Amino acid sequence: MQTVWLNGRCLPMNEAHISPLDRGFLFADAVYEVVPVYAGRPFLFAEHMARLTRSLAAIGMSMPMSPEQFASAMQELVTRNGGGDLYIYLHVSRGADVIRNHAATPGLKPTVFMMTSPLAALDPRIPDQGVAAITTDDQRWHRCDIKSTALLPNILAKTRAVDAGATEAILIADGWLREGSSSSVLIVTAGVIKAPPYGPEILPGTTRDLLCRLAEAAGIPVTIAPVSVQELHAADEVLLGFATRGVLPVTRLDDHAVGSGRPGPVWRQLFEAFERQKPTDAHIASASP
Ligand code: PDD
Repeated sequence: MQTVWLNGRCLPMNEAHISPLDRGFLFADAVYEVVPVYAGRPFLFAEHMARLTRSLAAIGMSMPMSPEQFASAMQELVTRNGGGDLYIYLHVSRGADVIRNHAATPGLKPTVFMMTSPLAALDPRIPDQGVAAITTDDQRWHRCDIKSTALLPNILAKTRAVDAGATEAILIADGWLREGSSSSVLIVTAGVIKAPPYGPEILPGTTRDLLCRLAEAAGIPVTIAPVSVQELHAADEVLLGFATRGVLPVTRLDDHAVGSGRPGPVWRQLFEAFERQKPTDAHIASASP
């Protein structure tokens, strides 16, 4: 039985109960993070804590625990679930209310929930074949910079992609690239990486930020500017970045091949650089006193 973390303690999943009056359940009045764990160590932990702090602030909440408390709770949870490569789903709702009312009763205690899930290993076909994506209309609200659990439009878009045999739905608004239903999207044209600027319409991605830093360190130019749907379709490479999958090459978009139809050189370079960043047992052993 998997161990989860709920409101200050670890317990078996089947003993974790929340109230039906929890505002996360009734209203999706909640935000979340997905933190990858490699070799038992949370990766980009500070970046995830910073984004959680921003999401909470945007909905008028503060951090229910310090980053240090989150770090030790995560470490305990990871250890109890066997360590290795996992991801942590971290969910903070405004708490269990006393009545269903859109305006929250003041003074609620936030509900804090964490669980782990296996981090899927890279499908060995991907370095050769890449993945497929579709484009679809972005039907979300105008505060997608908040990592809200209200994900219905994302779920509908992802389902459309899966039904079409694709891995991701790339969201387009008024002819402009936003992001994937659960990923950041970057394009590569003539050796230059391009990604849309952050703002209320997209989520700042921890993986995208790392990929941009790795690209710059490798001398690959990065441009942050609006990307039109025409540029997306004409790109040499299209990359997806997300905490659960790292960086994936899109080789088929809607009904056509992206670039050569095979994962491109920029994907390969960033993938290898990303792999070198991940904590491994060897890194951890050599860092120990
Ligand atoms: N999703 N944009 C959206 C809409 C996302 O849901 C995600 C991540 C990202 C990428 O962010 P990051 O690199 O920090 O994971 C961008 C997670 C994986 C999820 O919802 O499961």
